[in-house]
Amino acid sequence: MELGPRWSPAARPGCPRRWRRRWALLGALLGAALALYVCVRELRRRGSAAGRPEGEVTVLLWWEPFGRPWRPADCRRRYNITGCLLSADRGRYGEARAVLFHHRDLALHGAQGLPRGPPPRPPRQRWVWMNFESPSHSPGLRGLAGLFNWTMSYRRDSDVFVPYGYLYEPPSPRPFVLPRKSRLVAWVISNWNEEHARVRYYRQLKEHLPIDVYGARGMALLEGSVVKTVSAYKFYLAFENSQHTDYITEKLWKNAFAASAVPVVLGPRRANYERFIPADSFIHVDDFPSPRLLATYLKFLDKNKPSYRRYFAWRNKYEVHVTSFWDEHYCKVCEAVRTAGNQLKTVQNLAGWFES
Ligand SMILES: *[C@@H]1O[C@H](CO)[C@@H](O)[C@H](O)[C@H]1NC(C)=O
Ligand SMILES: *[C@@H]1O[C@H](CO)[C@@H](O)[C@H](O)[C@H]1NC(C)=O
Repeated sequence: MELGPRWSPAARPGCPRRWRRRWALLGALLGAALALYVCVRELRRRGSAAGRPEGEVTVLLWWEPFGRPWRPADCRRRYNITGCLLSADRGRYGEARAVLFHHRDLALHGAQGLPRGPPPRPPRQRWVWMNFESPSHSPGLRGLAGLFNWTMSYRRDSDVFVPYGYLYEPPSPRPFVLPRKSRLVAWVISNWNEEHARVRYYRQLKEHLPIDVYGARGMALLEGSVVKTVSAYKFYLAFENSQHTDYITEKLWKNAFAASAVPVVLGPRRANYERFIPADSFIHVDDFPSPRLLATYLKFLDKNKPSYRRYFAWRNKYEVHVTSFWDEHYCKVCEAVRTAGNQLKTVQNLAGWFES
């Protein structure tokens, strides 16, 4: 009875009530600190699980190719390549493990458009020179010596080799069905130049064989309809705009192979093609002493189904991958950075190498 009133706040106002407030305040502060600690830990944990995982690498695109706005690819979802942050935000320069420089834009902006400190070039960062045009169409190669650490191109001896396409062996290939062929030879050309070997060859070949020409100088072709259109033809003229080591473009991979037309190629030598595709998957203009004899052979194949079909024998084993610009390239660089060691490298003679 006595204690009750003594310890009741009403009975003893003043001291006990002040203490209760202080304890309450202290408790609240401790609670808040604990909550903050748990929260930060949780965020960190989540961050390393999804947002910025341990070992994630930033790949910075210095210029968006051809100045087109771009949305970074999800390398994991599209190519099963994890741990990549692709960005065109130059604010990430300091953290970037690789910086990509597209040659066309580099030629446009000049070397003074390259990053210049501060901040200084991070020691582990790799500058990657990226080019998918041939040397004939790559102005300004001189003056780029000693700047880059890696090359990325269609050349097999690039640091990051990204061809325009490739064949692969799927675990269980889909049975190949040859599309119905009602036409003979197709050619799609947008950049018509009388000086090009391909135009000169075409002029001779068409004297002996009908050729359907599509593009700027020929029949109109709807955007995205190349494969469908060409699939009605038995042969496709996969003529490159210039002849250089490993320079084998979508003219072969997409316009001919993806359309299931037999490629008649004009580009590097046959042996160079055979590094990438089976010898019996294509016809090389060099296989014949003259355009007239090539025409004779194509007309023979047109009338001789078993011989024509032999050009598709490889399809029982391989399927065609056509490389997609540019996401696949960026993701490949990321993968290369992630799997590379720490060895330093500088590309000294860029022009000499690329033109060889
Ligand atoms: C993705 O990559 C991982 C590791 O490289 C591999 O084990 C897995 O089989 C791949 N998944 C697919 C669907 O290719
Ligand atoms: C990249 O090249 C520069 C210029 O030669 C060089 O200083 C740097 O050490 C190289 N970095 C790497 C990671 O190879």
